[in-house]
Amino acid sequence: MQKSFVMLKPDAVLRRLTGKILTRFEERGLQILAAKMMIIPRAQAEEHYAEHQEKPFFGDLVEYITSGPVLAMVIEGDECISLIRKMVGATNPQEADLGTIRGDFAIQTGRNIVHASDSPASAEREIALFFQDDEICKYQLPD
Ligand code: CMP
Repeated sequence: MQKSFVMLKPDAVLRRLTGKILTRFEERGLQILAAKMMIIPRAQAEEHYAEHQEKPFFGDLVEYITSGPVLAMVIEGDECISLIRKMVGATNPQEADLGTIRGDFAIQTGRNIVHASDSPASAEREIALFFQDDEICKYQLPD
């Protein structure tokens, strides 16, 4: 069983798409273990996106992700890191397949609706940056 960090970005919240997107994860059979609506402090956003620090879009990315509420989540399921990345679609929504979240709801890379961990190491780092251990529910779904 894997855990992934998934964040619905300000465009998802402000466009009132959070319910539709959560439904996709739930209907696929994934479990939401934690969910927190928050406006990310600047330093936390810079740390979350530290790997992009040298990229020309870093300033705009941090500005944008701190500009409004996000829904930060921990989602669990079998091999869920790659599965969720598939459900999310390509970073550039213009290249994302129809049927993916970005392919269905977004058209701009800088407003691509959702972030999802790209590896087990990223998931561990990102979950620890956003959640305390006791904020993550542990429960079994009925068979
Ligand atoms: P995300 O999956 O959250 O991870 C890094 C983010 O940087 C990415 O989604 C995009 O929102 C953003 N990003 C990546 N490439 C570009 C780009 N060329 N221009 C603007 N934003 C970008």
